Amino acid sequence: MKIRFADSRPAGEYALVLPVAGKDRGTLSSLGASEKAVSAALDRQRFEGDASGVAEQFYDDGGGARRLIVVGTGSSAPKEAAEKLGGNAVARLLTSGEKIAVIDITGLNYDADAAARVGFGALLRSWRHDRYRTKLKDNQKPTLEEVVVVGGDPAAAKRYEDRWAPVAKGVSLTRELVTEPANIIYPETFVDHVTASVDGLGLEVEVLDRAAMTELGMGALLGVAQGSVREARLLILKWTGAGAGAPPVAFVGKGVTFDTGGISIKPAAGMEAMKWDMGGAGAVVGAMKALAGRKAKANIVGICGLVENMPGGNAQRPGDVVTTMSGQTVEVINTDAEGRLVLADAVTYVQRNFKPTAIIDLATLTGAILISLGHEWAGLFSNNEDLAGKLQAAGEESGDKLWRMPLAETFDRLIDSPIADMKNVGPREGGSITAAQFIQRFVENDTKWAHIDMAGKAWSDKAASTFDKGATGFGVRLLDQYVADNLEH
Ligand code: BES
Ligand code: MN
Ligand code: ZN
Repeated sequence: MKIRFADSRPAGEYALVLPVAGKDRGTLSSLGASEKAVSAALDRQRFEGDASGVAEQFYDDGGGARRLIVVGTGSSAPKEAAEKLGGNAVARLLTSGEKIAVIDITGLNYDADAAARVGFGALLRSWRHDRYRTKLKDNQKPTLEEVVVVGGDPAAAKRYEDRWAPVAKGVSLTRELVTEPANIIYPETFVDHVTASVDGLGLEVEVLDRAAMTELGMGALLGVAQGSVREARLLILKWTGAGAGAPPVAFVGKGVTFDTGGISIKPAAGMEAMKWDMGGAGAVVGAMKALAGRKAKANIVGICGLVENMPGGNAQRPGDVVTTMSGQTVEVINTDAEGRLVLADAVTYVQRNFKPTAIIDLATLTGAILISLGHEWAGLFSNNEDLAGKLQAAGEESGDKLWRMPLAETFDRLIDSPIADMKNVGPREGGSITAAQFIQRFVENDTKWAHIDMAGKAWSDKAASTFDKGATGFGVRLLDQYVADNLEH
């Protein structure tokens, strides 16, 4: 979909979108003679202008009936209200039959950034995945082609192009990877898809295959992959926006392209959800695309551990002991606790090769985090107060919210093994915490590290202002905002 910024409403056919903040209906004055009738119709619909309210009607626009969408913006801060305004308008109009939406923000006193975010919210909400829906009826197909944001600050168009359009592209890449089923996206094709998608952006791409990872001794990652006919990959994306020399911050993503549980196989009901067990890796590549797209002045390396976790004649067994790239050994008690095994070797690899100043890993790691935080917050674990605080702030700012969880020696002891250096699961209680403790055992020399358990966030069963049901793109905006606020000076 095309997003445009203009000084005045275009001629011809379009649906008009007007924001209304609470009880103040001043923005309706531009409707001229129709203002009173529209306002009366809003009353009869019990429209109150709060942030979730949307009302639709037709009004007489001097000779023709024009569709009008009135979107409540409530009393939230302009940038949040702006994204919701764009998103809610598109949600309403995407398959409405209208081709053009004109969102008139005249009189709202939005700065260039807030005005740009109207377009950003609109673009985010327009994303859909219809590739396999070959029998959509005409009235189910999207019709909206263009959103024109009218009456904003003249600098909004540039702000949109420079800051937000690249982030939307990153989010779209993530959503696409998360949505595609596991017969389409597996380690090799994940790499191919990403490579094609970031082509020309100036990212350096490196890929390790099984032989290279065997050479490096990545026994934990390869142990997970060995039950599948799909070969594992390690994908490395480098962005040196701050110039060569300065050490990077590392993003590490869990990329389990399908998680059956392996020999510790999962129950059948709902197992299809495990196609999105690569949501952490999806967020990492989406963020890298966003940062490169907007030429962020920072050095970042993004690493994805890509495997498929399958049962099979060659699958690893419960009780197997694997040797990780770090040299530490792991007793694999439960083959369904595979994400931490993949992350362990990816975290070691990034430290040995890049000496990062901080490591942030993202993973759909545990069902237990859903029990703790539901679908509202992702869990944040960190060995560093400063990094944790900055990530939480970026979470608030971007909407990808994080809730801090504890780490402690007493939890760490729960993963000691009688036969190896550690086992890959602790007791059921505190399952997200022992999973984080496991990853922490691979963090060397007190490197700043944060782990984000986003099992409740990669996928949503209900639509919101900036995404439809399905893949959310969680993590892209979080990482982008963290970089913007802390690394680009
Ligand atoms: N990918 C799952 C975690 C998950 C569960 C993500 C539900 C999204 C929704 C992970 O690999 C897993 O299977 N974790 C196990 C760990 C257990 C065996 C210690 C879990 O959470 O049950
Ligand atoms: Mn699992
Ligand atoms: Zn998993």
